[in-house]
Amino acid sequence: MEKGWRVVKDAELIPAKEGRRVKIGENEIALFNLGGDFLAVDNRCPHKEGPLADGIVAGKAVFCPLHNWKISLETGCALSGGTGQVKSYPVKLKDGKIHIHV
Ligand code: FES
Repeated sequence: MEKGWRVVKDAELIPAKEGRRVKIGENEIALFNLGGDFLAVDNRCPHKEGPLADGIVAGKAVFCPLHNWKISLETGCALSGGTGQVKSYPVKLKDGKIHIHV
């Protein structure tokens, strides 16, 4: 295993256009399947820490389930609702397993 990469989930366990929460140490991360592409951000909305993994996916963004801010899953930046940014993580898929770099 390369330094910093963690295997977190089987890709087939996340349906397309859905998110799942995964724990890596103290970090709770929201991992999304965008239809074969996987992206990950901290599972805390930059507004009031809403659980982004439970939000509605639209393109490469997610709408927070609490107050509907739209968060880019590529940059972690708020695209609408207000301003703020959540940490994003590099993700790669290998042999059907999702790896996140922390
Ligand atoms: S906590 Fe996400 S929009 Fe308010």
